Amino acid sequence: MRVAMIGSGYVGLVSGACFADFGHHVVCVDKDPGKIDRLHQGVMPIYEPGLEQLVASNVKAGRLSFTTDLAEGIAGAEAIFIAVGTPSRRGDGHADLSYVHAAAREIAANLTNYAVIVTKSTVPVGTGDEVERIMAEANPHAEFAVVSNPEFLREGAAIGDFKRPDRIVVGCENDRARAVMAELYRPLFLNQSPLLFVGRRTAELTKYAANAFLATKITFINEMADLCEAAGANVQDVARGIGLDNRIGSKFLHAGPGYGGSCFPKDTLALVKTAQDFGTPVRIVETVAAVNGQRKRAMAKKVVTAAGGDVRGKRVAVLGLTFKPNTDDMRDSPAIDIIQALQDGGAEIRAYDPEGHEQAAMVLTNVHYATDPYDALEGADVAVLVTEWDAFRALDMDRVKALLKSPVMVDLRNVYDPAEMARRGIAYTSIGR
Ligand code: UDX
Repeated sequence: MRVAMIGSGYVGLVSGACFADFGHHVVCVDKDPGKIDRLHQGVMPIYEPGLEQLVASNVKAGRLSFTTDLAEGIAGAEAIFIAVGTPSRRGDGHADLSYVHAAAREIAANLTNYAVIVTKSTVPVGTGDEVERIMAEANPHAEFAVVSNPEFLREGAAIGDFKRPDRIVVGCENDRARAVMAELYRPLFLNQSPLLFVGRRTAELTKYAANAFLATKITFINEMADLCEAAGANVQDVARGIGLDNRIGSKFLHAGPGYGGSCFPKDTLALVKTAQDFGTPVRIVETVAAVNGQRKRAMAKKVVTAAGGDVRGKRVAVLGLTFKPNTDDMRDSPAIDIIQALQDGGAEIRAYDPEGHEQAAMVLTNVHYATDPYDALEGADVAVLVTEWDAFRALDMDRVKALLKSPVMVDLRNVYDPAEMARRGIAYTSIGR
């Protein structure tokens, strides 16, 4: 099949490369000439394990190409995906749909054959109707159907998630479009991934419901962690104790510094706004967003307490900056709030992250970026583990202890064993244990 992908960001590029790998012919379109130039040279705009090789092999096989020219990109395509950004709109938290609408208008103006227009970007309920209206207005002769096909992939595991999804949700209102979507995803039937055909509005809402539910699960266990700390219980054991109940499930029950990233913070906020507009507020999600927002900065207090009540003039080593491992993404990372709060308290920050320095430097000031974890720890009064990169999972604790000015460690991801740390003489604080 011929596929066009409008928007070569995270979702567009990964989906495009994976569809090409299934044997479809994919053209990825992006307005940014610099990005397209770099893609032509094999340079990825994002860090995602396995992506560079996947792109290279499919370009070589002639199934994947890149262009800035939308008309050229969509020529002859049977499915045209809209995978442009939907950031939070400044001021009100609603999703900003201006890029989606602009893409719809441009597609309609250049459409020469019947095509299924697929919204892959996370868009509020009703966006498919709006895209349909905009396209019909821009080109009354255009023949098309609009389908919603939300993406559930996780950064750092995006290729695996795309190729072996738990489910594919397609919101579709007619049979011709349904046949195109079934053909497009046919290679996945081998993995027996369920393909759910639902109404378009249902598909749009399903994506928000999924992200809001996961954000709620994390926030629930984070609050349990605080309670465990106060009550002298162990949150990891509580998580295991409840997670083995199939109705609850053990995933997404890791207590930590609060969720970040490009999806959960933005999507929970957008769902809250949508629900308020419909007059059916989702009060649980409102609370989740508020609790998570406060949690990130509150983590800095843990560090201050561990450092003896004051960080003024003290050096803090921060291990991990990105919102989770295996990405260079700093969007809404807890590290930002934590570092800024510590700096407000007068601390000097030495940080190390395997991939995040470049993006961190765009949002943080006055941070010294170290060359490796041990370099970050040198002469520090307290070490804080913020992101659980593999590189921090088996640190040489004798070396850590020797490098630190005082052996104090705050582990916001529960990577280490408190008893073992006590045995080594390290003053160790973690989450909910
Ligand atoms: C998420 C969804 O998982 C994915 O389905 C959707 O398409 C996009 O949003 P992503 O943002 O890439 O994916 O990361 P994810 O692995 O879900 O983690 C999100 C945040 O939650 C991270 O900050 C992570 O550290 C945190 N988290 C996750 C926890 O604190 N505890 C957990 O148990 C799981």
